[in-house]
Amino acid sequence: VSTSTHPNDFALETPALLLDVDALHANLIRMSTHLRQLGATLRPHVKTAKSVDVVRRALEGQPGGITVSTLKEAEYFFENGIRDMLYAVGIAPGSKLTHVVDLIRRGAELTLILDNAVAADFVAKVAKAAGIRIPILLELDVDGHRAGIGVGSPDLIAVARAVHEADSLELRGVMTHAGASYECRSAQALRAAAAQERLRSVAAAEQLRAAGLPCPVVSIGSTPTALFAESFAGISEVRAGVYMFQDLVMAGLGVCRIEEIAISVLVCVIGHQAERGWLITDGGWMALSRDRGTATQPLDQGYGVVRSAAGAAASDDLIVVSANQEHGIIAHRSGARFDVERYPVGTLLRILPNHACATAAQHDHYNVVRAGSCRPVETWPRISGW
Ligand SMILES: Cc1ncc(COP(=O)(O)O)c(C=O)c1O
Repeated sequence: VSTSTHPNDFALETPALLLDVDALHANLIRMSTHLRQLGATLRPHVKTAKSVDVVRRALEGQPGGITVSTLKEAEYFFENGIRDMLYAVGIAPGSKLTHVVDLIRRGAELTLILDNAVAADFVAKVAKAAGIRIPILLELDVDGHRAGIGVGSPDLIAVARAVHEADSLELRGVMTHAGASYECRSAQALRAAAAQERLRSVAAAEQLRAAGLPCPVVSIGSTPTALFAESFAGISEVRAGVYMFQDLVMAGLGVCRIEEIAISVLVCVIGHQAERGWLITDGGWMALSRDRGTATQPLDQGYGVVRSAAGAAASDDLIVVSANQEHGIIAHRSGARFDVERYPVGTLLRILPNHACATAAQHDHYNVVRAGSCRPVETWPRISGW
């Protein structure tokens, strides 16, 4: 059997996570240019990349603060010299809050979010006992997607007052994440989601100010709304993370082109089931993740879209139709038979991910490649876990 199609002479063991640094840079420039044109700044969300090498590049030209989704990210980025961090998941009492206090005592400028008086009360008590002041943003629900104080709810002023009146807390403002933008089905709907996210956040900020409460920060963002916003008037910062890598879910939404996806998993063909029209690879769900984010989109991409090892579109329209732990099954999207011998055992292929955050999370480093190559030029570590 020939393995000459894509000789793996650089000893990269498959499955391996590839990061196309040229695509990454283009994605970073696209976001920063768009925000600059609309007069906004970025607080990158590090939950997608979890890598200081990536995030340093995302911070170029920005004020320097980041958004974290875990305290492990906060620890790692703090160790790497970043102090200004927004922990953008509602705070839980107990050891997590003790950990927050510890980070702040060591010099981290960590802001917490909350959306209820119970949390305001326990954070205030812990901060008071520790002799520190914790900055707080109130989480808003602008689209029924997840957590947050609902539009028009009297809780907004009540929780804001509870925070403002606690000596150990500092009311900094409001934040939201328009997660329902992931369900949009047109550019027009994305623009409307972006406008709604901004207008509802600005309205909440104005309500606080009208009640005599401070609200210097109005923080919004998701990759779709950040890239489709036509105005950031009244907004102090935008948060986004997926835009760095992009993925098939974003491509399905029309937020990026498939060619702009910067990460992929390099897999190797280990066999065929010719009569079924299958290629068997060593890239199963452990390498790709279980994420099936495109399953609810008009074009279901299975466990990922197949590209050549160098990143070019494969001559057949192939996707990963099924995944076991360490086996991937590649077939024609339509189920049609194709000449599996065009992909001999030993052939390397790239799989583009449904969800960049989930796929990257299956790996402990990025094999950094240049556009059109699968030969790593650098290795960038990344963190995972809590
Ligand atoms: C609170 C918060 N802000 C910002 C983001 C970034 O959005 P995206 O992942 O679309 O870039 C997320 C993503 O989940 C989030 O939860």
